[in-house]
Amino acid sequence: MPAVKKAVIPAAGMGVRFLPATKAQPKEMMPIVDKPTIQYIIEEAVHSGIEDILIITGRHKRAIEDHFDRSPDLEEQLLAKGKMELLELVQDIGEMVDIYYVRQKEPRGLGHAVYCARKFIGQEPFAVLLGDDIVRSRVPCLKQLMDLYEEMPGTILGVQEVDIREVGKYGIVDAEPLRDGVYRVRDLVEKPSPQEAPSRLAIMGRYIIHPRIFEILAETPPGAGGEIQLTDALRVLCREQPVYALVFKGRRYDVGDKLGYLKAMVEFALDRPDLGEEFASYLKELVRGL
Ligand code: G1P
Repeated sequence: MPAVKKAVIPAAGMGVRFLPATKAQPKEMMPIVDKPTIQYIIEEAVHSGIEDILIITGRHKRAIEDHFDRSPDLEEQLLAKGKMELLELVQDIGEMVDIYYVRQKEPRGLGHAVYCARKFIGQEPFAVLLGDDIVRSRVPCLKQLMDLYEEMPGTILGVQEVDIREVGKYGIVDAEPLRDGVYRVRDLVEKPSPQEAPSRLAIMGRYIIHPRIFEILAETPPGAGGEIQLTDALRVLCREQPVYALVFKGRRYDVGDKLGYLKAMVEFALDRPDLGEEFASYLKELVRGL
């Protein structure tokens, strides 16, 4: 299969878990420290070697397009005030990568959102990154999948082990170990109960997928939650051709969940050279008083 150059980022969800913050702003624009969550995702894709990105948007998502565009008024003001560092920061965002947009007109699930990318992708293998999963790692998470793809071209799912009580939140794989951290997927199930779960290996929002998925998605009926599930289509795919699961290295945050979001905020702030030290002493003092 050819190299993976294109990525799809579904961002059409309503963000109900973060209301009222997401009433008039996309959840993807919620910041971790001072950067919107979707920018972390785009940076991961770019640092993994992706050249073109398609964001699947919906209504009320204009702020995402504006964020990755140039902003002449702001740039002019920053220049006039001599704030060169901020100017560079703002300009860099606009020039990071070529981003395209398509709208998912009805919320029909992740599988349907990915299906909206079929014309953009054509016949190439492509990456999918889900915005609720942010990964902090030495090698970018998607890059780890791309490196495995070089060696074992096929569909690759980024997975991590979760507690058995958590399996109902994820797509879970039934997989046969090939070597340390690499599995061949035999089957998948979307959001199983702990009794039904074939393993504790959960799909964590990073995929490299063969374009055959589009033909399968076209015929995939609604599944869990009445939505067209990507997992259901992958299930068909893994019977036809190799699908692997890679246990990627890194700490992953579910920023679509309030507690996960707070954890990400605290840990990313602690990592920051300009904030970390002061924030750590504040936290220590706070904890002492609890
Ligand atoms: C989606 C996928 C699921 C995957 C999860 C990762 O679920 O359907 O297979 O494990 O993302 O975050 P969602 O969280 O959108 O319900």
